[in-house]
Amino acid sequence: MDQLHAKNIVEYLEEQRQKETLRFITCGSVDDGKSTLIGRLLYESKCIFDDQLKALESDSKRYGTQGEKIDFALLVDGLEAEREQGITIDVAYRFFATDRRRYIVADTPGHEQYTRNMATGASTAQLAILLIDARKGILPQTRRHHRIVTMMGIRHIVLAVNKMDLVGYDAAVFNRIEADYRVFAKDATLDTLQAIPLAAIHGDNVLKTSEAMPWYTGPTLFEHLDTVDVSHTAAREAFRLPVQWVNRPNLNYRGFCGRIAEGKVRPGDAVRVLPSGRTTTVRSIDFWEEQLSEAEAGASITLTLNDEVDVSRGDLIVAADAPPEVADQFQVRILWMAEEPMVPGRSYWMKVHAKEITATVMEIKHREDVNTGAHLAAKVLNLNEIAVATLVTSQPVVFEPYTTNRILGGFILIDRLTFATVGAGMVDFALRRASNIHWQALELGKLQRAMLKHQTPRCIWFTGLSGSGKSTVANMLEKRLHADGRHTYMLDGDNVRHGLNRDLGFSEADRVENLRRVGEVAKLMVDAGLIVLVSFISPFRADRQTARELFEPGEFIEVHVDTPLAECERRDVKGLYAKARRGELKNFTGIDSPYEPPVAAELVIDTSKDNPEACALQVLKLIEGR
Ligand code: ADX
Repeated sequence: MDQLHAKNIVEYLEEQRQKETLRFITCGSVDDGKSTLIGRLLYESKCIFDDQLKALESDSKRYGTQGEKIDFALLVDGLEAEREQGITIDVAYRFFATDRRRYIVADTPGHEQYTRNMATGASTAQLAILLIDARKGILPQTRRHHRIVTMMGIRHIVLAVNKMDLVGYDAAVFNRIEADYRVFAKDATLDTLQAIPLAAIHGDNVLKTSEAMPWYTGPTLFEHLDTVDVSHTAAREAFRLPVQWVNRPNLNYRGFCGRIAEGKVRPGDAVRVLPSGRTTTVRSIDFWEEQLSEAEAGASITLTLNDEVDVSRGDLIVAADAPPEVADQFQVRILWMAEEPMVPGRSYWMKVHAKEITATVMEIKHREDVNTGAHLAAKVLNLNEIAVATLVTSQPVVFEPYTTNRILGGFILIDRLTFATVGAGMVDFALRRASNIHWQALELGKLQRAMLKHQTPRCIWFTGLSGSGKSTVANMLEKRLHADGRHTYMLDGDNVRHGLNRDLGFSEADRVENLRRVGEVAKLMVDAGLIVLVSFISPFRADRQTARELFEPGEFIEVHVDTPLAECERRDVKGLYAKARRGELKNFTGIDSPYEPPVAAELVIDTSKDNPEACALQVLKLIEGR
């Protein structure tokens, strides 16, 4: 900060702007000396304000563990304490600069329960510092940190072997740790790997070369950070621009805004718009008032094109002769970030570059033990767990494998009801290219089939507790429709579970699959022109929503049979409530498994208030009214 006093502020800011920025993440725990190291980096780069320094000096005397010396850990420990109390689970970003570079440090706790935070911090970092306590060497947590940062696409690693003072500055200790790490990391794709022996507490090899370790001839930490070549290969690849926004201030201007994910672009270049495939050429590259003669990866620009082609948010503008792949089924790696487990078959919002679509994880191939890398079997994915899985998207997606491009290969999954980010994912490769799927072009459609039956096909979906009267009402309605000459079919939980879904039980995962199949079957029947009555508990909102989205607007009618639990239990037609109460039947809906009532059902009926005939009539009135 004293540089700031010495110079004209404008000059200073301009100088800062022109510096390259390096983003890195520090992985380790307080015990490894992480706070001390970060505090030391801030202090040595003179990025601490004078008043902060004064406070630090007096705090160090009062609370520090370093006697009269400054305890650098106190600079950053406030946050650690907050985290220990679970107040914040975010990533803390810290900033400092040297004469050569600006730095953004993502600081996250190292424990396993913070895997998601570390992955978040790593996702935008170019380099990772893996901190190791020289007395302990490579620990399971080191392997975990290595696995997370390399999975998130980091290709530059600094192995910071700290606390060398506590092992007598012994070269042999350092060499052994470095050798151990190199063996373990040999399969990772790394561009640089630099091991540095440190005593962060005394500043050895942080800024100044350590006199206590003359045997070490490599760079100090600052030298390395200032000079390591992290220049992105992306600029050398083919051009890709995910369109984030279409700027249309008047009829004469249509600009496509976004940040170049890969490659370079110049006016006149031939480009292709994906997924539509239309080609044209670049008219101009606009940046505020300026027109640029060239722009490359990382730049945020606005493109204008020479032809009127249709481009919307979420599309990609790419080099015409080297377009990326388009697919709708992928092998992916997923890190789960929500308390609620991920259940295969359930669908989520997926945000991939600037596109938002729905996606379903169809199958977990295996879960990865984050400490050992071992492959484990898994039905669901819990918080902080990582899995390799098959993902299916509702629309074709333009993508690039994550290892090639983080922007085009990285995605997040969002819960469709709460809008919380629940997972982060990386595309490995496509399992089915979109261009290979050809829907059988059918001469006869739903409309023709329905017309022959003189009816509007529909899916009437009854949801409610066991014993609420779903099937009774649905049966009555079907009889009535049949009498009116309608073509109907009834899908009932108890029946379908004897055939098509015989392999499924009542775990959450099995129920999701149960309803996914029923939804798909109902859709086929609606396509055949039928009025389908579905009667399943279908306790989870997300799964009913997924079913709804299989249908055209207005086709899906959700009927909530809202008979109170006490009444269902009193009826207990099958004696199952009694069994569940005695603990002989597990996961029973309403007893030890939840029922999530609809928030916007088309109709709510209650068989404890109205008799089944009256309820069936209410449904009939609703569909006839449409
Ligand atoms: S759903 O939750 O997957 O939609 P579904 O409607 O197919 O359930 O099946 C519910 C029927 O299975 C109930 O009416 C009941 O007869 C029977 N059943 C057996 N075990 C359970 C259970 N643990 N929870 C709910 N229903 C159960």
